[in-house]
Amino acid sequence: MEKEFDVVVLGELNVDIILNGIEKFPEIGKEILANEMTVTLGSSSAIFASNLSSLGSKVAFIGKVGNDSFAELVKNSLNGKKVDTSHVISSSTFKTGATIVLNYSEDRANVTYAGAMNDLTIDDIDFEFIAKAKHLHFSSIFMQPGIKKSIPEIFRKAKEMGLTTSIDPQWDPEEKWEMDLENIMPYLDIFMPNKNELGFITKSDSIELSIQKLKPLPRLLIIKNGSEGSLLWDGENLIKQPIFANNQIVDCIGAGDSFNAGFINKFVAGKKLLECIEFGALTGALNTTAAGGTGAFQNLQSIKDITKEKFNYNI
Ligand SMILES: Nc1ncnc2c1ncn2[C@@H]1O[C@H](COP(=O)(O)OP(=O)(O)O)[C@@H](O)[C@H]1O
Ligand SMILES: [Mg+2]
Repeated sequence: MEKEFDVVVLGELNVDIILNGIEKFPEIGKEILANEMTVTLGSSSAIFASNLSSLGSKVAFIGKVGNDSFAELVKNSLNGKKVDTSHVISSSTFKTGATIVLNYSEDRANVTYAGAMNDLTIDDIDFEFIAKAKHLHFSSIFMQPGIKKSIPEIFRKAKEMGLTTSIDPQWDPEEKWEMDLENIMPYLDIFMPNKNELGFITKSDSIELSIQKLKPLPRLLIIKNGSEGSLLWDGENLIKQPIFANNQIVDCIGAGDSFNAGFINKFVAGKKLLECIEFGALTGALNTTAAGGTGAFQNLQSIKDITKEKFNYNI
């Protein structure tokens, strides 16, 4: 039976308020000026959903926002990229999450108010809606305490309904790195951390040790490692995927989410793993050609044009 969606994304939603051109660090009791401000769709899950949709997959989102103007910004941005937001819930108690980004050229100081994304729980999930998709992706487990404990149950149900599944754990702001691996991994097709995150989750300081200590193993483990490229472990073989070099990097915000979008776009289309990971590397590199996580993913035609021009790659 033809499914209505390729991928349903479960995850966090917030706006980023990015201040640029700030002369120095702020001080208590004083006021400084920023020369530039951008207010845009933030969050790893939303960047993933948005870029995956731009690549041509049919994408729906399950998440929670407040009942405020930031909620409109989040939903309008996702709708603008053709992501279905019919299951983005409005909380009457909490405001939409926001991250204030103080951007100092290469580095950033961020302050996040989690707001409604903390309040997303399993009771908010419509499993009949999830059943309309081929694949379930979840991102940022440590940032969403309301849903974290229910991830084993949600993923078990998704597998029972015949979906394939993926998780990108992302950073733990509390740096505790506690994740119920035992009850999540059996229901996981693809685990997609970066090298540091995997190291902290498995309490290991090398990739080899991380793979040994990750028990039980997911069906596929992907390890992203910035400009060093990425690896895929399928339980038998370790595939190494180099980067597509970009000598004019604008910034690397969201590269991991864009890599995930490329990989999953091919995965749900039933392509071979080598093609999936190569395409992930391409879309991760594409991400670095424009500002922020979604800048390089306006639409499929512009994506094709940039990848041809910058990486000599025909999509
Ligand atoms: N500077 C870069 N140049 C080209 N490709 C990059 C660069 N940074 C990241 N990528 C691609 O994006 C992927 C994910 O980036 P990474 O920084 O490892 O993820 P995360 O953002 O989750 O930490 C990398 O494996 C690589 O393929
Ligand atoms: Mg990441």
